[in-house]
Amino acid sequence: MLDRFGVLGRLKPRGRRRIGSTDLTTHLGDLVLPNPVIAASGTFGQSDELADVVDPADLGAITVKSLSVEPWAGNPPLRVAPTVGGMINSVGLQNPGVDEWCASGLPALRDRGARVIASVWGHTVEDYGKAAARLTRVRSDLVALEVNVSCPNLHADSQMFAHDPAATAAVVETVVAQVGDLPVFAKLSPNTSEIVAVAERAVDAGAAGLTAINTVSAMAIDARTRRPELGAGTGGLSGRAIRPIALRCVRLVSRALPGVPIIGTGGVASGEDAVEILLAGATAVGVGTATFEDPRATVHVRDELDEWCATQGIPRASDLVGALEEPA
Ligand SMILES: Cc1cc2nc3c(=O)[nH]c(=O)nc-3n(C[C@H](O)[C@H](O)[C@H](O)COP(=O)(O)O)c2cc1C
Repeated sequence: MLDRFGVLGRLKPRGRRRIGSTDLTTHLGDLVLPNPVIAASGTFGQSDELADVVDPADLGAITVKSLSVEPWAGNPPLRVAPTVGGMINSVGLQNPGVDEWCASGLPALRDRGARVIASVWGHTVEDYGKAAARLTRVRSDLVALEVNVSCPNLHADSQMFAHDPAATAAVVETVVAQVGDLPVFAKLSPNTSEIVAVAERAVDAGAAGLTAINTVSAMAIDARTRRPELGAGTGGLSGRAIRPIALRCVRLVSRALPGVPIIGTGGVASGEDAVEILLAGATAVGVGTATFEDPRATVHVRDELDEWCATQGIPRASDLVGALEEPA
């Protein structure tokens, strides 16, 4: 098994290959990307804001910030608190609404040749369905749709959709019914012991793949004022600190659902981080908070992954997917 995947090369390199010669082609089901690095939702803008530092077409894909049917103002300030190994944010899904994004955000990304993954959120199953339906007008400019189910369900005492397998399935089913052949990825929350059940129901409901993980519930307290640092009180932890959590979640879900494409996301900031999340079972790699530290983090992760594979004598990055050597 290890030989087949070339992972023994990690211990005994089979000879260096030229950097740039690794095949980074990534198959997420029917969706084929030139490389596995995908900008994570909410960390790469809503259009081509970062185009001066990263050519959007250079990435496998760009997932834009989650969109709702109507514009949404998000949470009061402060919205971001730095912490050890990452940050806690309570941006609160601020966005201009699907229609405005289709008119003013999407065209620039499309014109630059980016492969765009739209992301939708809502407070009810119907909200998700409406947001997805409005995106069908721009179907040809999208490669996939991500469903951000880390939102309070107003019809279930504001319990997160992503913490409830049935509610997640209802959202996915509704969205899939709207978007036809556009692949739908359900974004999983790490803040539930039900993550495998949620993933299974999402796939049963028609999700073509999964994104794991969203942020980890957290808060920051200002000792001097004795108040929460964030305006919303609590928020979501992201960045290097959550990488071990993401690895575990990806491994759990990929073992339960072999063959289902997973965009492994959480704390990836280097090529070797990307290797680790691929070994855990991810098919592609989401890069989020690292972009705030280094606006070119996404391309650095891609190039370092290429270099790592070349150094280890691994011809295809996809050879790493799920090739974790499990303890006996
Ligand atoms: C400032 C900020 C905004 C985010 N906004 C969204 C969002 O709109 N939708 C979503 O699904 N995830 C959102 N996320 C979560 C990221 O997409 C990602 O899942 C998470 O941060 C873990 O990856 P990372 O550690 O690489 O950042 C956001 C994260 C950050 C830091």
